[in-house]
Amino acid sequence: MVIFSLKIRHIVRTLSVNIDHIATLRQARQADFPDPVQAAIMVELGGADGITVHLRKDRRHINERDVELLRKTIKTELTIEMAATEEMTRIASRVRPEQVTLVPELKTEVTTSGGLDVVKRYSKIKPFAQRLKRSGIRVSMFVEPVRAQIEAAARLGADVVELNTDRYCREKNRRAEILGEMENAAGFARELGLVVHTGHGLDYMNIVPILELDIAEGFSIGFAIVARALMVGLAEAVAEMKRIVEVYS
Ligand code: PXP
Repeated sequence: MVIFSLKIRHIVRTLSVNIDHIATLRQARQADFPDPVQAAIMVELGGADGITVHLRKDRRHINERDVELLRKTIKTELTIEMAATEEMTRIASRVRPEQVTLVPELKTEVTTSGGLDVVKRYSKIKPFAQRLKRSGIRVSMFVEPVRAQIEAAARLGADVVELNTDRYCREKNRRAEILGEMENAAGFARELGLVVHTGHGLDYMNIVPILELDIAEGFSIGFAIVARALMVGLAEAVAEMKRIVEVYS
């Protein structure tokens, strides 16, 4: 009898889709659509493992109504990206997402710019991280792929570090070097028992080397997916309107 022993390398990698920009479009018209809650259902139908939203102090896209309805409707994991503040911690403790990702937040930024400086803001972040954990929420910290930041996140009790891929995505001629830094950072984070996620600026092409090098278990991607949805869905949306117009031609 021949016994086949197949060793299959199976690493589960998860994709959480950031739907902030569905809400950005809604807010651009101050309308009630497109609705990020409705979009979340489609995102789940597409196979996403989670839904991510960034609840900002200025509520420029996602608001509390969205977060509360998402909590009640989605079947996958909810991640709230937020600043480490009293207001946000109170909301997260009430809504109870599976994960909170702590990010730095500037009023003037277009999108999150740079990782959280966990080293410098250690004592400011500490009470919020502890409260979130006490509420049973998994805590992730969005950091640069730098040892000191990862170590500080681990000391603060983070479960996950999300390595900022912004520089990797933008500085195309330094990609190999930055990938090396990310690989080292991911290895170090795992030695400390942290789960490694990556995000910011990832798209359908630049994600591939990160997958090939096994840098992360989780991916948080928003803009590229929402932008592609517009492109792949635009022809159909026009065709639907054209059919209505033609009824009266
Ligand atoms: N991760 C974090 C911490 C972010 O702030 C963002 C942007 O909201 C993302 C991931 C997703 O980035 P992108 O929209 O460029 O895919």
